Amino acid sequence: VFDHIEFDEHEHVAFCHDKKTGLKAIIAVHNSYLGPALGGCRMWPYANSDEALNDVLRLSKGMTYKAAMANLNQGGGKAVILGDPRVHKTADMMRAMGRFVESLSGQYISAEDSGMSVADLQIMAEETTHISGTRASYHFAGEEADGNPAPSTAYGVFTGVKASVKYHFGSDLQGKKVAIQGLGHVGYRLAEHLHREGAELFVADIYPEGVNRAKEKLNATIVSPDEILTLDVDVIAPCAMGATVNRQSISTLKAKVIAGAANNQLASEDLGELLKDKGILYAPDYVINAGGIIDIYHQKMLSSNEALKTHLEKIGATLMEVYTRADEQNLATNRVANTIAEEKFKK
Ligand code: NAI
Repeated sequence: VFDHIEFDEHEHVAFCHDKKTGLKAIIAVHNSYLGPALGGCRMWPYANSDEALNDVLRLSKGMTYKAAMANLNQGGGKAVILGDPRVHKTADMMRAMGRFVESLSGQYISAEDSGMSVADLQIMAEETTHISGTRASYHFAGEEADGNPAPSTAYGVFTGVKASVKYHFGSDLQGKKVAIQGLGHVGYRLAEHLHREGAELFVADIYPEGVNRAKEKLNATIVSPDEILTLDVDVIAPCAMGATVNRQSISTLKAKVIAGAANNQLASEDLGELLKDKGILYAPDYVINAGGIIDIYHQKMLSSNEALKTHLEKIGATLMEVYTRADEQNLATNRVANTIAEEKFKK
């Protein structure tokens, strides 16, 4: 099995089957040149082991690029547990997962991802010290600081939107029209930051709670999920699912900047060139949404809120470096980000 799946690029891929607890899991360390591999643990009802392996290989590689661009002394890794979190997860299974993480002796540090909660990580932490994301982190007044990195992700995206607007329009956010797709944990908090800086907001979600709250509290205009990407606004902030930037959506896009939290925003890498040719500035997703991993890193380092905040604000400067180099070399921003990341970890 797996002989058709290429994993030579990865430093270490470990499989675990713990019959007693039913745990089936894979940990992938993609690259640890800059430090131990940091990345979330996802629990998902994969159709089969191939699908799980492909996912963990792809995600761990992405983490290497993200950590490098976030200037962390960390490599990229990821873990996946095969199973439905609502059906198969037990405390004993989480402890077994903790022992699996421990068996790599710190080569991989685990955190939250889809299907896993702070409470699950706390159980894993009974068996290993190589866990982060279980303690209070940077948060805003009134926020519960429970280890959830979404507030930091939102703040990082906000600094990234600000930098992108500055680069493209040469101005601040006052009066800029921003359309946010998805008002979940990150999108709603991003809306709050943008509102505070004077941006005019347009919001869409498939559920009403977030958008209604944004209308009431942030004076946002609610639009339908089908329309949000076609609006005549300055900035589009994808904060829902991946692949929202595809050939079809680009053909109707009027915004001049795309800068949001969602992972894997481009349906394919070559769309970066299409955006460049259309004069649309694209903030590479893993650069602008690195606030979550930066938060997890600072939780691990037990550092101060101030240190975390300063680090999050560097996302803006990193984007500026990407944009400047992309313009100088006439390249798409996503390609330039990849190259800069590789310069950092492929020594
Ligand atoms: P979330 O699940 O809390 O929010 C996503 C929101 O998008 C939900 O309110 C959902 O109803 C909405 N949505 C789904 N499909 C939609 C559609 N077609 N049109 C409009 N809205 C739609 O997730 P969260 O945590 O806010 O994350 C948002 C994105 O940012 C995801 O892509 C995630 O992978 C990415 N991200 C999140 C990080 C974090 O710290 N939470 C870190 C880095 C990336």
